[in-house]
Amino acid sequence: MLSLVRNLVLFILSITAGFVYIGNAIPQIKTQPAEAITVVGETPEQTVAAGKAIFMSDRAQCLTCHSLGEDPKARCPNQEGLGERAGKRKPGTTAAQYLVESVYNPNAFIVPGYPRNQMKPVHKPPIALSHDEITAALMFLNTLGGKSDSEFLEQVKEAQDPWRKGLLRPEESVEADKLPILSGDAPRGHELYRSQGCVLCHRIRDEGRDVCPDLSAIGGSQSPDYILESILTPSAIIVKGYKEVKMSLKPRRFVRGVPVKWVPDREHPKSIVLSVDAGGGQREEQEVDLSEATSIGETAVVVKKGKKVEATYGDYVSGDQQTGVTMKMLENGEWIERRFHASDIKRVDQAESPMPSNFAEMMTPSEIYDLVSFLMAQKGKK
Ligand code: HEC
Ligand code: HEC
Repeated sequence: MLSLVRNLVLFILSITAGFVYIGNAIPQIKTQPAEAITVVGETPEQTVAAGKAIFMSDRAQCLTCHSLGEDPKARCPNQEGLGERAGKRKPGTTAAQYLVESVYNPNAFIVPGYPRNQMKPVHKPPIALSHDEITAALMFLNTLGGKSDSEFLEQVKEAQDPWRKGLLRPEESVEADKLPILSGDAPRGHELYRSQGCVLCHRIRDEGRDVCPDLSAIGGSQSPDYILESILTPSAIIVKGYKEVKMSLKPRRFVRGVPVKWVPDREHPKSIVLSVDAGGGQREEQEVDLSEATSIGETAVVVKKGKKVEATYGDYVSGDQQTGVTMKMLENGEWIERRFHASDIKRVDQAESPMPSNFAEMMTPSEIYDLVSFLMAQKGKK
């Protein structure tokens, strides 16, 4: 299984990631990537103003954990008065040095009473602020109890210098590649379950539809990690019976669907029965004669052929785009292994879940935890 965080990162980066909906009755969910703030100003005042906008933005995620002023819902340090505390946190460390370290290398000093590994380095995905944006955010935070003048700006930049040059690495512990599971608010999760459209595919007891796995008992059978991963990267583990195969057929036709039956069997296949999307949330079974197929499988290797690009389908065996890929492919009624050379490969599309893969862009991390917490409470019967 791929690492959750790597997946999350790939996934947040891949705004273009294709997703397929079961049924056209499901409303299209549009994403709006938050705009990058690239101009952080020249004077200290402009930089502070830009930094405030960055700190408050959804993209920076700071407010999903922190608060400015008292907030009983906040899970992490209240930043009020930070500018005053910062220079006293670690002996021999100036306020600028401390602030830079707390965002690039959060594990270097843990504020008493809070867990390690909860705050992630903000210059790396999934937050991935630019160094200039970080300068600005820290200029803003320091105004909470401190003075952010041009002298302070220079000190921040100086402390950031080794990070800008890539000379330092954040301290990560063994568990670092796991996302923290924070406790969420289950009733809010239930609202999200409806408003995010989960209910259009899944069933929980008497609410929802039967086109996708029933989630009425998910909390009794699965861990929070698994549920989190199912929401963030549905394709990491695809529930049995929901893995689609794609087929190219002569002449220039294409079919995709979930295999229901190989005839007579998978080793000696003559035809295949697929459950395909018939629109309007309906599925229908379709039998396809395999002598018409040019290729079939869960994974597509897209190759360049002169000026044309062509997808060949098969079952993934090993390798990747950089080293070449080995696939198990059906040719003239027999399964054979075939190797594609790296220089010919344009793209490899691994099996995808029919579940949309952009929920991390649609919800804030705290909303995702609310949803996980709602699903963990589902311990009923299917
Ligand atoms: C997932 C939750 C989370 C997110 C998101 C997060 N932080 Fe934090 N942050 C924490 C926790 C927990 C601590 C205290 C533990 C520690 O010292 O690492 C902390 C500590 C800090 C501190 C030191 C505070 C002090 O009182 O000494 C600073 C500064 C800070 N965060 C800035 C930021 C900024 C800026 C962002 C957004 C770019 C951000 N954090 C995003 C959880 C988070
Ligand atoms: C377009 C239909 C669709 C939507 C919308 C959808 N899912 Fe799914 N979901 C699926 C399918 C199909 C699977 C099974 C394939 C897989 O494992 O990815 C699945 C699998 C899951 C699983 C794993 C189930 C198991 O038995 O292991 C969870 C948990 C889940 N979805 C939660 C959600 C949540 C939460 C939402 C809303 C934020 C959601 N899904 C929205 C189609 C959908």
